[in-house]
Amino acid sequence: MDQVDIGWEPARDANRQNWDERAALHVEAYGLDAFDDPAHLSDVARTDAAALAPFLAHGLDGLDVCHLQCHIGTDTLSLARLGARVTGVDFSRPALDAVAALAARLGLSATWVQTDVLDARAAVSGDFDLVYTSIGTITWLHDLDRWAAQIAGLLRPGGLFYIRDGHPVLSSLDETRDEPVLRYPYFGDGSAQAWDEAGTYVGDGTVAHTRTYEWPHPISEVMNALIATGLRILRMEEGRTLPWRFSPRMLEVDGGFAWPEAERDLVPCTFTIIAAKD
Ligand SMILES: C[S@@+](CC[C@H](N)C(=O)[O-])C[C@H]1O[C@@H](n2cnc3c(N)ncnc32)[C@H](O)[C@@H]1O
Repeated sequence: MDQVDIGWEPARDANRQNWDERAALHVEAYGLDAFDDPAHLSDVARTDAAALAPFLAHGLDGLDVCHLQCHIGTDTLSLARLGARVTGVDFSRPALDAVAALAARLGLSATWVQTDVLDARAAVSGDFDLVYTSIGTITWLHDLDRWAAQIAGLLRPGGLFYIRDGHPVLSSLDETRDEPVLRYPYFGDGSAQAWDEAGTYVGDGTVAHTRTYEWPHPISEVMNALIATGLRILRMEEGRTLPWRFSPRMLEVDGGFAWPEAERDLVPCTFTIIAAKD
């Protein structure tokens, strides 16, 4: 990894080329056939719906939900199966084409909007009871104040925002070491982390556009960006499991992955924030 100074547009466009290619690989590797069972939900959406349940009087049924960075839509369509009217937002045309085809095959209705998430308020019509984003999201964004402003703008009064993502402490760990050892900065300085990787987090496929840019965001930055828009934080959680195998030493636990038991309390794997627009 190199620490580089790069403007948002060129960094975002490089990321989009990478994600466009990954979409095709993930259509093969995500196990989409499982959705042919009408009761099937993604593990991510099932976990998130359970976390949201105490804050939703009638669950997701009948809610207008905007899913930011929806990727190939497995979580979006799962929320639709739980009764939500869903709008999926992503900057990758191939990802949205893939989920639109899957939705049509499954007979699920949804709206798909191609846009940079940092321009989502202007690109998406209407307002929402729930703005949702989960697993693999803000690390791709350079400006969380602009991100939070989109969320606050998309919510109607009384609406909820939900995020669950990899914990920034986890992202500071050395992925090449067996044990949890710190390597990368926890705090950002505005510069991007430039990575060159042909592989992706699922399957064996590779991409030609290997260069990506990510930005570290400490938990305080995430919380303060949301608070600054006027959103009220209702709940914050830190989790010991996550939905992908960050380290080969992680064990499969409860449909996710966790460090061996003796190390499980050393480092948080995920964070969850639920906030309300008054
Ligand atoms: C790790 S994936 C989200 C994965 C999702 N949890 C899943 O498993 O389906 C990240 C998504 O963010 C999208 N993305 C990255 N940067 C974006 C941006 N600036 N605007 C909109 N979408 C973006 C990518 O296209 C990709 O679909």
